[in-house]
Amino acid sequence: MPQPLKLVVLISGRGSNLRAILDAIRNGELPAVVEAVVSNRADAAGLAYAQQENIDTLALDADDYPDRDGYDRALQGLIDCFEPDLVVLAGFMRILTPGFVHHYQHRLINIHPSLLPAFRGLDTHRRALEAGAREHGASVHFVSEELDSGPVVLQVRVPVLADDTPATLAERVLQQEHRLYPLVIRWLAEGRIRWQDEQLLFDGRPLQQPIEIDREYQQKPA
Ligand code: GAR
Repeated sequence: MPQPLKLVVLISGRGSNLRAILDAIRNGELPAVVEAVVSNRADAAGLAYAQQENIDTLALDADDYPDRDGYDRALQGLIDCFEPDLVVLAGFMRILTPGFVHHYQHRLINIHPSLLPAFRGLDTHRRALEAGAREHGASVHFVSEELDSGPVVLQVRVPVLADDTPATLAERVLQQEHRLYPLVIRWLAEGRIRWQDEQLLFDGRPLQQPIEIDREYQQKPA
């Protein structure tokens, strides 16, 4: 068993991806430990859940800081108290400063509800429907300075149905997000995904394009 990966998870709301990560840890599928959950909103439902689970939680309100740089420096200071191996953005709805992204280079990941590079930003499900997309999905990627950018590790495709609304599509994509995120973190813990200099490797080979969970990677049944 590899050493558990130390995680700090950043959220802004519901926290269902956080729950999926905690469930995978509890079920022995993910060698990791959530050291802390940090939110920019004190009323985030995911914070209450983490508290119930006896995880350290912290809320950092942007109104208490003069600017984005000040906020991100404070956030960085908090996160670094926990000495994480990996910082996990799980629905953290803030734009990050280049300094923050740079500080966590190669150890900052995000999940985004689209087949990146399509539909960066907000409202991805409505925009996918309006664009007439026949497939939608979710992506887990390392974070670079631009919004919802950086090397994508794993994606899942979700077919768009004729009677989909943004809400029904979002729900089906979210179910798949809950498979993706624990799996990518597991691969990182196991060293199957790693950085060598500026090269992202999967099983020792350069990762040229995102892995697709059901096409190239068959997850073993639990
Ligand atoms: C998820 O759908 C996640 O992909 C999205 O926010 C939701 C959070 O849900 N993130 C982004 O849009 C980031 N650009 P959760 O709080 O239930 O995990």
